[in-house]
Amino acid sequence: MTQRIAIIGGGKIGEALLAGLIKTGKPTKDLVVAEKSTRRAKEITEDYGVRVTDIPDAVEGANIVVLAVKPGDVDAVLSIIADVEDVGEAERLTVTLVGGLPMLKYENALPAGAPVVRVMPNTPMLVGEAMCGIAAGRYATDEHVATVVTLLETVGKVVVVPERQMDAITALSGSGPAYVFLLAEAMIDAGVSMGLTRSMATELAAQTVRGAGVLLTDSGVSPVDLRAAVTSPAGTTAEALRELERYGMRHAVSEAMRANAAKSEATGRAVLANIETS
Ligand SMILES: NC(=O)c1ccc[n+]([C@@H]2O[C@H](COP(=O)([O-])OP(=O)(O)OC[C@H]3O[C@@H](n4cnc5c(N)ncnc54)[C@H](OP(=O)(O)O)[C@@H]3O)[C@@H](O)[C@H]2O)c1
Repeated sequence: MTQRIAIIGGGKIGEALLAGLIKTGKPTKDLVVAEKSTRRAKEITEDYGVRVTDIPDAVEGANIVVLAVKPGDVDAVLSIIADVEDVGEAERLTVTLVGGLPMLKYENALPAGAPVVRVMPNTPMLVGEAMCGIAAGRYATDEHVATVVTLLETVGKVVVVPERQMDAITALSGSGPAYVFLLAEAMIDAGVSMGLTRSMATELAAQTVRGAGVLLTDSGVSPVDLRAAVTSPAGTTAEALRELERYGMRHAVSEAMRANAAKSEATGRAVLANIETS
C-alpha cells in the first residue's frame, strides 16, 4: 500500500524529516506538509516541490501523520486531526516528534484505538545524522514500529525502547548535542587563551569533535580503548585527563544527565496529572 505521509509543522525538525524522505526517494506526491506560517509554507513549496496546506487537508487520505510542532501547539493540532474522519482511526498512524509529552496525551485526544509512536529525535537530524529513540503506544503494532524505524532511518539512526526509558533517552541523545557543543565552546575558549585565533580554534575544535565522532561510530572500538590509544604513558593527554578527572568531569556529566531525566519525568508527570483532572 502507498504510504501517504502528512507532516504537521514545517519548522526545523519537520523540514529535516521531509528532506531525508525526499533524498531517499520518497515521491513528493506522497508527501504533504501542514504549515501555519505563510513564509515557511512558501519556502517549503519552493525548496522541495511538496504541497503545503492546512491540517484537515493534509491529514485527509494520509496513513501516517507526523507531528513536528512545539509542545504548546499540540492540543490545537490534535483536536483538528481527531475531527478528520476519512479513514478508520486504526488505519492512521500518528508519529510524534514533539518533546516531552507522554503517549497518553495523544491516545486520549485521538479517536479510541488510534496507534501512536512517540519519538525523541535530536538536532543532528538537520544534517541527516539524528539519533532517535522511539516508543510504541498501546495500540501500535510491531508493523507500525517497523514503519517508523524505516521512516526515521532516512535521517539517522533509531533505537526502540519502552516509553518509561524516554526520559533517559532525552537526557542522553535528545540533549546530548548541547553537552558536546559546550565541550567544543570550552575547547575553543581555551585555545584562544593560548594564542590561537578564534576562527582557527573553532575549526580545530569542530573537526576534532567530528573526527572523534566518526571514530566512535565507525571503528568498532570502545570509547575506553579509543581514549587509551591517544594517551601515552606520562604524556600530554594523560596530564589533561588527570585534570579533567580532578575537576570531576565524569561526575558532572552524570549529575547533569540525571537532572535532565528528572526534569523530563516531572514534566511528563505534570501533563499526566492534568489529563487525569480534566
Ligand atoms: N529543534 C530541535 O532541536 C528538536 C529536537 C528534538 C525534538 N524537537 C521537537 O520537534 C518539535 C518541532 O520543533 P522545531 O524546532 O521544528 O519547531 P519550529 O521550528 O518552531 O517548527 C514548528 C512549526 O510548526 C508550525 N505550526 C504550529 N502550529 C501549527 C498548526 N496548527 N498548523 C500548521 N503548522 C503549525 C509553526 O508555525 P509558527 O512558527 O507560525 O507557529 C512552525 O513553523 C518540537 O515539539 C520539539 O520539541 C525539536
